[in-house]
Amino acid sequence: DEVSAKLYEPMRRHTTMLVGGPAQFWIEPHTFKAFAEAVDYCRERGIAVRVVGRGSNLLVRDGGIRGAVIHPSGGEFGECHVNDDGHVVAGAGVRLKKLASVAQAAEIGGFEWMEGIPGNVGGALRMNAGAMGTETFDQVVSVTFLDEDGEIRTRSREEITAEYRNVQELRRNFALQAVFKGEKDTPENIKSRWDESRAKRRGSQPIAASAGCVFKNPGETPAGMLVDQLGLKGCEEGKAGVSDVHGNFIVNRGGAVAGDVLRLIERIKSKARGERNIELETEVKI
Ligand code: EPU
Repeated sequence: DEVSAKLYEPMRRHTTMLVGGPAQFWIEPHTFKAFAEAVDYCRERGIAVRVVGRGSNLLVRDGGIRGAVIHPSGGEFGECHVNDDGHVVAGAGVRLKKLASVAQAAEIGGFEWMEGIPGNVGGALRMNAGAMGTETFDQVVSVTFLDEDGEIRTRSREEITAEYRNVQELRRNFALQAVFKGEKDTPENIKSRWDESRAKRRGSQPIAASAGCVFKNPGETPAGMLVDQLGLKGCEEGKAGVSDVHGNFIVNRGGAVAGDVLRLIERIKSKARGERNIELETEVKI
């Protein structure tokens, strides 16, 4: 009951972009112990290990993934509650939206920016996801993770270096759970920030299948604005297109494959390089 596994599981079923070939081994542990055992099993046999949460910031190639993909879900990974310190404890498999709702129900504010993020806690920690001017690590108190030696450890916020969309310590250590802090607030204030975040998102981001923003913002001009200025909004490769709503989103217009998305990414990068001398870097993990 602690783990389930499948062979050749199509990754398009596990990414919000809805593209990507099969994962050779697909493993779903429900406890931290089962997760540690799965990683250990693979490492002992030289099987490459990747951890995938909601797959909302991920582009899997059409050839799929060789080795194991571990997907923490349910059980301990799905736990989310407020502890005695008034902090919110959440497993790696908890949706950010759920984390925000648990905080809201306990009248803890500061999580409203997470309302529209499709990703899970594990992925948000790994990449220091952010929106509306706040980043995941602004609210982290501590992170519990599986380290490279197979030990489960906890580090406080001060012991972790979090950068814009990157957390070095979580590249080879896998986040299992984290403790988050917010501020006690009134339900009215929380609701109004929640609504504000939703309105801003709905007005500026597409609802079609995507992996969120494709590129990191390169210095002064945000990537979306740059793509817009380059006249690339709406352009297509196969069934993938640059969103008409936001230039930094590539959307699946139905039946796209990863190759379509990759061609579009290359086209954007090459035009940004050629016309503006800007080297765009993907924010989405490929
Ligand atoms: N803009 C355009 N044209 C476009 C898109 C944007 O001119 O097609 C302009 C906007 O008008 C605005 C500026 O570019 O003046 C910035 O746009 P926006 O406010 O949408 O923010 P962003 O920098 O593009 C960032 C995050 C988003 C997050 C939003 C909202 C990155 C790469 N992106 O986008 O995160 O949701 O702020 O806070 O940092 C994600 O990580 O996947 C993501 C979507």
